[in-house]
Amino acid sequence: MNKPNSSRKSINELRSQRWFGTAGMRAFAHHQRMYQTGVRREDYADKPVIGIINTWSDLSTCHSHLRSRARSVKDGVLEAGGFPVELPALSLGEVMVKPTTMLYRNLLAMETEELIRSHPLDAVVLMGGCDKTTPGLIMGATSAGIPALYMPAGATLSTRWRGESIGTGTHTRSYWDQLRAGEISEEDWRELESVSVRSSGTCNTMGTASTMALLAEVLGWTLPGAATIPAVDSAHPRMARAAGERAVSMAWEDWTPKRWLNASNFMNAITLQLAIGGSTNAVIHLIAMAGRAGIPLTLDNFADQAGKVPLIADLMPTGRYLMEDLYFAGGSRALFGELGDLLETGSLSVTGDTLKENINGAKVWNHDVIRPLDRPVTDTPALAVLRGNLAPHGAVIKPCAATHALLQHRARAVVFENAADMHERIDDPNLEVNAESILVLKNAGPVGAGMPEWGGLPIPQKLLRAGVRDMVRISDARMSGTHFGTCILHVAPEAAIGGNLALVENGDEIELDVLAGRLELLVDEATLAERRKRWQRPDTIYKRGFGVLHVSHVNQAPQGCDFDFLAGAEPTPEPDIY
Ligand code: FES
Repeated sequence: MNKPNSSRKSINELRSQRWFGTAGMRAFAHHQRMYQTGVRREDYADKPVIGIINTWSDLSTCHSHLRSRARSVKDGVLEAGGFPVELPALSLGEVMVKPTTMLYRNLLAMETEELIRSHPLDAVVLMGGCDKTTPGLIMGATSAGIPALYMPAGATLSTRWRGESIGTGTHTRSYWDQLRAGEISEEDWRELESVSVRSSGTCNTMGTASTMALLAEVLGWTLPGAATIPAVDSAHPRMARAAGERAVSMAWEDWTPKRWLNASNFMNAITLQLAIGGSTNAVIHLIAMAGRAGIPLTLDNFADQAGKVPLIADLMPTGRYLMEDLYFAGGSRALFGELGDLLETGSLSVTGDTLKENINGAKVWNHDVIRPLDRPVTDTPALAVLRGNLAPHGAVIKPCAATHALLQHRARAVVFENAADMHERIDDPNLEVNAESILVLKNAGPVGAGMPEWGGLPIPQKLLRAGVRDMVRISDARMSGTHFGTCILHVAPEAAIGGNLALVENGDEIELDVLAGRLELLVDEATLAERRKRWQRPDTIYKRGFGVLHVSHVNQAPQGCDFDFLAGAEPTPEPDIY
């Protein structure tokens, strides 16, 4: 292991000295512009310059505290003898950004890489939290290759409505179903709007944000315990300050991701995802993040581990509790400790210490929230990878958040060509559908629509009113990690590029066997070949701008949906400074 402190950079070796440590007209301009901000040369010129990449915005409501939290990071940097500079980055608020933040994850990754590359920075603190910000920032920083650590936003506070504990996202969907079924009123729904998110911070269930924060920590990207500190807890600014301090040390130690990040970190992340019943979105993000580090990760790595790791975090949507309960139960460190030998505790982190050192002394204070390994939340696995003629390159499902009786199912398809078609017809009283039907949504994959979270298709209203709360649903889309349902997601190849999903027609039989890892369209090959001849690629809505770049270069879900020209560990070239 290549631990830090074995060498320390000299001032002349700091990257920022290429801007500030030279003479001539360019250096003059750099200093001139620094003076313009009111600082003195001795404030920054012979110190590590620490970038604080902040994804705060007024419409990224999970991050509303990050504007002031950057101050705590700066305090830590100054205290440790560095010079902090804050750089705003694309803010991907999951709820407000349409059609989906997934369309822009790679844009944030590119922006992060280029912000780092083009500025005089010696290390960076990455401030994110809402779903795509964690992988976007980490992917970009991995590619940029300078010392970097991740500071998670933390989850929003727990809340209750009429005595019931409400999970962000999870209860939005279940109360929406109740509203459509006529079980709650419009007034109830309005009241819920105003009480269901009490503070800044990310969704408090084991949705994608909480999943990615925990995975970032077990990967080694955060300070120990950071992932589970609530956003507005007083421990959060203290953690932010410590992140700033640590970034300065990392700059001197040249503690870059490639010195500490390796395959065992990613195997730990897969193990943890299964142990927490994490979001299926993490499969895509982990593959993309590993790709940036030059570490091959495939669906087979997830399939190999699925079923071997007990689900021990009793959090919604699979379980009963919320992120604040996990914090009080001992937090991420206690959770990792409970997994014992299932984690490779020799893996290194941004601290320069091993996972074993980072979790030393952690204790579980509530074994209802963090279960012992022999008392899991459920015996149903947290993830399954499916293959078959409907998904030759793979699809995923989260069995622990599905209806057990539907995990082996054979029925006829009710097909929607795209999201607009689905929204137009799903509640039509004449829609030919019953509780056994399999709902199929096409053209919602990475190329087709930027891969939104449309994979939890709504249950048709007439079935909701009859008491149906779950059905088998199949799509090339993703699903919110906060949601529940027997939803087969990430079907690859996707419909928009001519995957077999594009060939499914109303009334076709589909067979699902999650335990056997199979997903089959029961239509003979000759018929499929005939349909394939007639298939026409749907027209893209993207005729200009970033959308064109996206549809031209995005990989399929099993490759992490990274851009083909960004995936891989090619070093980012340093800019010429003339
Ligand atoms: Fe931001 Fe869920 S909407 S974390």
